[in-house]
Amino acid sequence: MAETTARAEREPARDGEFSPLVLGPLSVWPPVVLAPMAGVTNWPFRSLCRDFGAGLFVSEMITARGFLNGNRLTRLLASSRPEEKPRSVQIYGSDPVDVGEMARALVDEGVEHIDMNFGCPVPKVTRQGGGSAIPLKPRLLARLVRAAVRGAGEVPVTIKVRKGIHPGLLTYLSAGEVAEAEGARAIALHARTASELYSGRADWNAIAALAASVSIPVLGNGDIFEAADALEMMRVTGCAGVVVGRGCLGRPWLFADLAAAFDGRVPDPPPSFGRVREILRDHAERMIEFFGAPMAMRQMRKWCAWYTIGFPGSARLRASLVRVDTLEEMEAALATLPEDLPFPDSAIHAHRAKGSRTQEVVLPEGYLDDLDDDTPPKSPRTEAEIRAWERALGGG
Ligand SMILES: Cc1cc2nc3c(=O)[nH]c(=O)nc-3n(C[C@H](O)[C@H](O)[C@H](O)COP(=O)(O)O)c2cc1C
Repeated sequence: MAETTARAEREPARDGEFSPLVLGPLSVWPPVVLAPMAGVTNWPFRSLCRDFGAGLFVSEMITARGFLNGNRLTRLLASSRPEEKPRSVQIYGSDPVDVGEMARALVDEGVEHIDMNFGCPVPKVTRQGGGSAIPLKPRLLARLVRAAVRGAGEVPVTIKVRKGIHPGLLTYLSAGEVAEAEGARAIALHARTASELYSGRADWNAIAALAASVSIPVLGNGDIFEAADALEMMRVTGCAGVVVGRGCLGRPWLFADLAAAFDGRVPDPPPSFGRVREILRDHAERMIEFFGAPMAMRQMRKWCAWYTIGFPGSARLRASLVRVDTLEEMEAALATLPEDLPFPDSAIHAHRAKGSRTQEVVLPEGYLDDLDDDTPPKSPRTEAEIRAWERALGGG
């Protein structure tokens, strides 16, 4: 019986089985969201993923202060092109005034969805009471969500959280209550605690528990590496949509697979090396057009490693790919592997970013003494402080 159920859970969607993800005025089909990822979900990668599939494609986290100060790189990372519809930006901010002001500015620029990051586990951030420490203080969380919702007007605001700090300090259910009460249109749950970082398996039971406890849509996040994982997550947790992170690093065609599976079709087999090379070139060209060649090619080094992981001979190839300075050098290095190499099974679940470390989360001294306190944590103000923060922010 268990085996039959497991097989059924991995079949493509049946007609009418799933509904579009509704976020206020937005209706998203398939109910698939590209996870906000720092250093990853810039316009070039979002546009590439969108060309393969469909859904909602969220920017990396954009710090409210950097954005409001008009920092050039922050503004570039928040930017888009007119063809991106709906345009979605994730705000990172812990000051309600900044957050409200940024939400208004984004809406004025035509942004149609705003996400808020309350899952960041980076010590530099939690030590000040920011990131994943914020949901520990529901009244502070409420102030921040309220500010964004007011600033955004008709534009839907969603929040993204982790389960909590550690198993003894869980915050996701209270965050769900706050999100719902303050007018967020959905809550995304990365089903790990901040101390787990990216290690182990995401706890899909927590996604089910959250979906059962709120009436706004819950977006499930954690460990979707294949289209079948997304359907399975929706079936076993009752979530309204899925958020896909590491699974699409170097595998943007995952969005084609997801679109197929949600439309009831069996996804195509994964591409051979020759096709991966073409996609990698397409990605590099989009990056060069957006960032300019020097910055784009520096970033492409990590992408080259992610795209080629698991192919036989790729370890040697990566040694040269991590040094490429130009598109031509990248292509010459890639030309050393045969085009007809099949996509390796091992590459589907390979961990392309973040590893399996855990951590002890550092909170400000006395932070837990008054959880009703809604005072915003100290956030960086000067250019130098903002830069140092943005460098430390590795995501949620
Ligand atoms: C490289 C990287 C950068 C990330 N940056 C962000 C971020 O900017 N904002 C955020 O909310 N989460 C960020 N995350 C967390 C992801 O959005 C997602 O919650 C996490 O990777 C779990 O999903 P997955 O198992 O599908 O990867 C980041 C993750 C990675 C791997």
